[in-house]
Amino acid sequence: MPKRIFFDQLRDHLDEQVTIKGWLYAKRSSGKLIFLQIRDGVGIVQCVVFKPEVTAEIFSLADSCAQESSLSVTGLVREHQRHKGEYEIGVLDLTVLHRPVHDYPISPKEHGVDFLMDNRHLWLRSLRQHAILKIRAEISKAIRDYFDNHGFTLIDAPILTPNACEGTSTLFETDYHDKKAYLTQSGQLYMEAAAAAFGKVYCFGPTFRAEKSKTRRHLAEFWMVEPEVSFIDLEQDIDLAEDFIVAIVSRVLEKRKSELEFLERDLSYLERVQKPFPRIRYGQAIQILEQAGQPTEYGQDLGGDDETIVSNHFDRPVVVTHYPIEQKAFYFKRDSADESLALNMDILAPEGYGEIVGGGQREDDLARLSRSIDQHHLPEDAFAWYLDLRRYGSFPHAGFGLGLERTVCWICGLKHVRETSPFPRMLTRLTP
Ligand code: 4AD
Ligand code: MG
Repeated sequence: MPKRIFFDQLRDHLDEQVTIKGWLYAKRSSGKLIFLQIRDGVGIVQCVVFKPEVTAEIFSLADSCAQESSLSVTGLVREHQRHKGEYEIGVLDLTVLHRPVHDYPISPKEHGVDFLMDNRHLWLRSLRQHAILKIRAEISKAIRDYFDNHGFTLIDAPILTPNACEGTSTLFETDYHDKKAYLTQSGQLYMEAAAAAFGKVYCFGPTFRAEKSKTRRHLAEFWMVEPEVSFIDLEQDIDLAEDFIVAIVSRVLEKRKSELEFLERDLSYLERVQKPFPRIRYGQAIQILEQAGQPTEYGQDLGGDDETIVSNHFDRPVVVTHYPIEQKAFYFKRDSADESLALNMDILAPEGYGEIVGGGQREDDLARLSRSIDQHHLPEDAFAWYLDLRRYGSFPHAGFGLGLERTVCWICGLKHVRETSPFPRMLTRLTP
């Protein structure tokens, strides 16, 4: 049997005999010809069974083959007869490795979302999911490349933690020998320690929120990239986030255009994602909401609908800064010009995709930070090590977190974040 190859190697084997292995995606026949569309995970290739070129047994095997049967095919690689620049395989031999025990449950007809989510393990094989997860993989790689190429050191944060970073109401709790532990909400506190050791650092991994939110933007488990940089302020933090987001979007446009087109994404929206991003203060966001006839009381957090209205005012991501300090996590530094405001920033994606980045400058004064931990009713002993960072060479520093799934959702132009995760975990879903 000739060497088994994947479909991205076909061009190196023109006019040669090869073996390919995969699954039957679709089939049509006309008289002496059967066209098998075979999927090998890398791509889909047409395999042509021509009656005079195979045994009667193989012809009838091809004819009776059901969707998602696993197959091994040996044949001749040639140029596709209709599509220039593509390849097809003239079948010489065919083995059915496994026949589905029932009809494949996912057909081209419309299925409900719950059905598809219940069958997520099979749904991953469809072209749409393939395009989305290819884009997700590209974004993950672009994230790592950006920070690796800008002198950052990757420092992995722990997943099991003794304390909260983003508020105690959204913690997943678990037993940890004779103690309690929590699944991390954010690696930030550890990145602050790492920034003092390595200057520019980032972590990129799964984070968890036990939010009771059932929205198109919320997952219980999501991936977050969190850079943290020593001796920078809020403005420089925003500069970094802006440059980073532009780099990610342009990489996807460069490398995954065909997947974006398959998803029917309007590329003009993505092409507009250029520097500089508009920067407004929370107070201005409140004014925009008032003018739009959707008043939100000053001091309230911006909800999902509020974010949509604010972001629709702009043609690219918008940075919203200086929220009232009470709304924000305990670690933010106060604005010295107005102590009621936090030196924080959220970045809202355009087209109503909501917040994709949250971050800002950290409190670096020991007494103030300690007071804030008290005011948030957090256990001071659990934060003793964190306070040490303000005891030994305290330093101004800032960073942010970008949520991977929300970013994929926006870049792909999807309605709901659930399709951006291979196996999403949500308020009402832990399976498959
Ligand atoms: O704004 P958040 O909560 O910020 C932090 O966790 C900071 N400690 C980050 C830092 O400064 N190092 O979350 C950051 C981002 C959000 O903007 C959003 O993109 C994403 O994480 N995110 C979620 N994504 C999906 N589902 C959820 N439940 C999310 N919660 C936050
Ligand atoms: Mg936030």
